[in-house]
Amino acid sequence: MHFLKDRGFVHPHASDITPQGVYEGRRDLLKLLATGAAGATLATWAGRDALAQTVRPNKLTALAGARSAVPGAITMEKLTPYADVTSYNNYYEFGTDKADPGRTAGSLKPRPWTVAIEGEVKKPKVYDLDELMKLATLEERLYRLRCVEGWSMVIPWVGYSLAELIKKVEPTGNAKYVEFVTLADKAQMPGLRSGVLDWPYVEGLRMDEAMNPLALLAFGLYGEVLPNQSGAPVRAVLPWKYGFKSGKSIVKIRFTDKQPQSSWMKANANEYGFYSNVNPTVDHPRWSQATERRIGEDGLFQKKRATLMFNGYEAQVGQLYTGMDLKKNF
Ligand code: MTE
Repeated sequence: MHFLKDRGFVHPHASDITPQGVYEGRRDLLKLLATGAAGATLATWAGRDALAQTVRPNKLTALAGARSAVPGAITMEKLTPYADVTSYNNYYEFGTDKADPGRTAGSLKPRPWTVAIEGEVKKPKVYDLDELMKLATLEERLYRLRCVEGWSMVIPWVGYSLAELIKKVEPTGNAKYVEFVTLADKAQMPGLRSGVLDWPYVEGLRMDEAMNPLALLAFGLYGEVLPNQSGAPVRAVLPWKYGFKSGKSIVKIRFTDKQPQSSWMKANANEYGFYSNVNPTVDHPRWSQATERRIGEDGLFQKKRATLMFNGYEAQVGQLYTGMDLKKNF
């Protein structure tokens, strides 16, 4: 989403204006809340369904998940409309403009697909996608995701805790970190012609971060398999970290004794650290991280919302960083 600035006024693009379907969904939700027929939780979920149905334009395979009981996995916040989730993306393998992936990721072939588990594990294995999807019970999780650029979304993901997979492959005592390697195929990904990042796109986590129940291996969103632009067929979602830590279209998960070098660290180590936890008190060298704009919602004249420590997941993940200097380990 781009803003046109003139004399202090910010004008939204056409794409910023709430689509009719979303408006209808919100009205349903308001009606439900007004009648008091349902508890707040129920009303939000019913509103969520109305919203999803009204804005979902394409027909991807349904992928239902049981509502997650993992602490922090469900939020009462309004969901970002499907149309915005799938048309405003960062997926540099398909171009650097936010609209590029939605337009060009049709060339990605999410099946057949395998994910190789390598390195410091007792049970290395190449998983076929179907086997990987059945490895644990699929859950629906409503996560806030905040991008380092200062925007955020709330998305209903479908997947299971990465910890489920990690336990199955039995890391050795040397496994201190997990590296995610994502697809780099020139035939499918036009963005690879650009040298903007060192391909393949690589991300990493410390082992205890990867084992935190909130760390999600996601296969779907809004009750369907992942659209290509969102990282089909499998991606990570780390809601307490800036969005770039959540690698899309994963082909390899490697367990290592050394801290992995992520693509963003290679591109600019001064701006993108290994941890990249959402932190309103540690600014990016070129801009503040104190506030954010919710995509599809915070439009004209809306005050930006305050960014929360660990993106609001401090109760769940704060203990991972006890005693660490988060200004140094950004
Ligand atoms: N994964 C790959 N393979 N390539 C990318 O360019 N971009 C990252 C992350 N994962 C990226 C990626 C960034 S910068 C963000 S903010 C999130 O994906 C965006 O996810 P979304 O488009 O689903 O919101």
